[in-house]
Amino acid sequence: MDLTGQVAVVTGASRGIGEVVARTLASAGATCCLASRNEAAAKTVVQAIEEEGGRAIAVACDIADGDQVEAMVARCTAELGRLDILLNNAGITRDGLAIRLKPEDWQAVLDVNLTGTWFCSQAAFKVMLKQRSGRIINISSIVGAIGNVGQANYAATKAAIIGLTKTLAREGAPRGVTVNAIAPGFIDTAMTQALPEKVREELKGHIPLGRLGTPMDVAHAVLFLASSGASYITGQVIHVNGGMLMP
Ligand SMILES: NC(=O)c1ccc[n+]([C@@H]2O[C@H](COP(=O)([O-])OP(=O)(O)OC[C@H]3O[C@@H](n4cnc5c(N)ncnc54)[C@H](OP(=O)(O)O)[C@@H]3O)[C@@H](O)[C@H]2O)c1
Repeated sequence: MDLTGQVAVVTGASRGIGEVVARTLASAGATCCLASRNEAAAKTVVQAIEEEGGRAIAVACDIADGDQVEAMVARCTAELGRLDILLNNAGITRDGLAIRLKPEDWQAVLDVNLTGTWFCSQAAFKVMLKQRSGRIINISSIVGAIGNVGQANYAATKAAIIGLTKTLAREGAPRGVTVNAIAPGFIDTAMTQALPEKVREELKGHIPLGRLGTPMDVAHAVLFLASSGASYITGQVIHVNGGMLMP
């Protein structure tokens, strides 16, 4: 899967799934623009990509802030010349049972996971529609499909991302822009390492393939959706969950 000459924006690339996806896209030849709030951490990933022979830049960006997103995409196109792939990966959790969930925790998760994904999609869409090509890949979650106790805010955003994906897919199709979502199951990153070990062990019992996923399991799906082989796929949700949900 050769992405030579292509430019990819990866949000939340400073660690976890985003870092591994960025390194994977870069190793396939894409030049990557790594966007996250922690610029120093993103720069460490840039260094790793350069050591592996790839090219990347780090841009400090809080995706919940529309002006910062516009500036990040403008810097990407100014410095790297174009924008072919957007991975909307940055996301947060602020868990709590529905009856106790604080308004600020509801709002923070909506602001980053949903509005942030929207800001990045809109900014990239403008560039991609004009150049009549592009790939937007949104990271949803299994939780957006089946819900999860204590994650009303997070599940609502991840379900909404699926509706956003399908709408943008319809709007982008006439101009050669495809938009798809990936719904990971439980992936071994800082986000799930925050769960108690007992819960992580219990989770494995619900996964037919018997293990948590790795960021690389998600990166393979992203790489495929970004590749020329996926040019006839749009508006779809690819589930990467070890068989935990078979919709
Ligand atoms: N891990 C799982 O089991 C799992 C399952 C399903 C879906 N997902 C989804 O996959 C995505 C990545 O998850 P992960 O497990 O890799 O999470 P993670 O390890 O917590 O990493 C989250 C990334 O998002 C960035 N980020 C957070 N808020 C941001 C903001 N406002 N603006 C810009 N960047 C921001 C973080 O960087 P900074 O802190 O530097 O900003 C970090 O790079 C998320 O959308 C998550 O919901 C994860």
